[in-house]
Amino acid sequence: MNFTILRFDSIESTNSEALRQAKLGADEGLCIIANEQTKGRGRHGRVWNSEKNAGLYFSIILRPKIEIRFLPLLTLMSAVAVTDVLRQTFGLNPDIKWANDIHVNEKKICGILAEAIETKKGLAVIVGIGINLKSSNFPPEFAESATSIGAETNKIPNLEKLLENLTAKFANYYEIFKSENGAEKIRQQWTRRSSYAFGKEVRAVLTNETVYGKTCGIEENGALRIQTENREIKIIQAGEVEMLRKIP
Ligand code: BTN
Repeated sequence: MNFTILRFDSIESTNSEALRQAKLGADEGLCIIANEQTKGRGRHGRVWNSEKNAGLYFSIILRPKIEIRFLPLLTLMSAVAVTDVLRQTFGLNPDIKWANDIHVNEKKICGILAEAIETKKGLAVIVGIGINLKSSNFPPEFAESATSIGAETNKIPNLEKLLENLTAKFANYYEIFKSENGAEKIRQQWTRRSSYAFGKEVRAVLTNETVYGKTCGIEENGALRIQTENREIKIIQAGEVEMLRKIP
């Protein structure tokens, strides 16, 4: 996979720009990166706090030739790639909270927002990755629940090195995904890196109900299986869950 990096000092949202570029026909591998986002977006319409030089704000355009049912696995794949970089480059011990939040010491360090769009060149998927580099400017409401590479290692990481390692890992797992049995291989990699895969007591808030139970693996498309108290298996798709919390 070839990457072309497009850099911005300040931008509304790297995902929005990548969506725009994909619509205009940009090739797979175009990456948008910015020092600051003025309208950084999180999942469920939330704001992604994107202070200047305090995070990696990065989006990549994919034009995946994979079965549609496996598309949700692209976010799980991205989480696997980020996790490896955090472990191998910074010596951290990250955990993937289903489906694709990355935590270190129980605090969120990275969020991933994947968005699909139909373009004249076919379906494009934008994977947006936000990694906290330093915590000094966190708004007070995030102080308890978020962390950063800087806070965890006492060093502010080099953004260029991080980007290089991340794109290399990403390309590596994307090749694996596209290979024979790729979806299964990605599921296995994700399962190994997530304490949420099995036996985690959780509460999942969906639009119309709240599900309590113990996690028991993921489906072939990455949906989470939760076994409720009466032994029923509920299958939760990433898009339908508003909030997932472990039950302490
Ligand atoms: C989440 O956890 O809610 C997902 C957060 C995703 C944030 C990244 S930062 C780069 C890209 N551009 C955006 O506007 N959002 C994603």
